[in-house]
Amino acid sequence: MHHLTDLLDWTGDQISDLVKDAARLKKAQLKGKHEPRLQGKVLGMIFEKPSLRTRVSFQAGMAQLGGQSVFLNGAEAGLGVRESLPDIVRTMCEFVDAIVLRTFEHENVIEFARWSTKPVINGLSDYYHPCQALGDLLTVRECCGDLKGKTIAFIGDGNNVARSLAIAAGKVGARFILSAPKRYRFDRPFLEMYQTTVRGLLDEIDDPIKAVARADVIYTDVWASMGQEGEAKERGKHFAAYQVNAKLLRAAPKGAKVMHCLPAHRGEEITDEVLDGPQSVAFPQAGNRMHAQKALLLWAMEG
Ligand code: CP
Ligand code: NVA
Repeated sequence: MHHLTDLLDWTGDQISDLVKDAARLKKAQLKGKHEPRLQGKVLGMIFEKPSLRTRVSFQAGMAQLGGQSVFLNGAEAGLGVRESLPDIVRTMCEFVDAIVLRTFEHENVIEFARWSTKPVINGLSDYYHPCQALGDLLTVRECCGDLKGKTIAFIGDGNNVARSLAIAAGKVGARFILSAPKRYRFDRPFLEMYQTTVRGLLDEIDDPIKAVARADVIYTDVWASMGQEGEAKERGKHFAAYQVNAKLLRAAPKGAKVMHCLPAHRGEEITDEVLDGPQSVAFPQAGNRMHAQKALLLWAMEG
């Protein structure tokens, strides 16, 4: 069964092939070509957290491929509240051909995949955001060419987005640098797992100025993720020196691109000047979520 839970079981070649497929689908779409390869298929979606990009890109992508989607928010699905997770999964599998789950504990994604007879796609958990990473590699490939040997400097929280991008980058031979205050760096179990499973080029550099010195891409995300709103003030203090702003960009190579998974907290992790500036690719990056996920939906449902 094809699942996308955390990318750990994907090879570098599988990731690169998906990114190439996504580029082909994007080119075809720009020429107005839609292949209804998923006609008659239905994508089920359960989202316990809000979403603009992930939800709309999956639903639009599914429609472009000739399929349909059904969306349930957390209250409607009532995971473990209205009914048990295994009962929900087994019922969903009677109706749909694949399921995207956005949830809090990553364990829910693993449990979902364990019970499911249909492909399960992690649409973000507290720990990982693999769909974001796949779309992001398409963006890096478009901006910078071959992924191998490229350097992505992630300035900010060692969160779900950072973990998944570090895994995906490591698998395709790109270097990933995390620059964060000590307590917000990657956790030890992640680093241990990374060393044994991914074995990519991963560095942690305290000083953001040094971290971006050889970057092809400077990446950031919010300092407090969904579910961490209560920590926002405290985190803001620790992360103050890690803002992606014009000064930081001056320390990077001139051609470096700026990426942000969005939504952005403008004026916190990134300034308007940078997010709206000429080096930012954040909005085409958001668009690429759909192209990568179309390739993912074909992989999941066509086998
Ligand atoms: N980047 C991302 O996943 O955005 P949403 O939370 O809006 O889906
Ligand atoms: N780290 C962010 C990503 C949002 C797409 C969060 O989890 O809220």
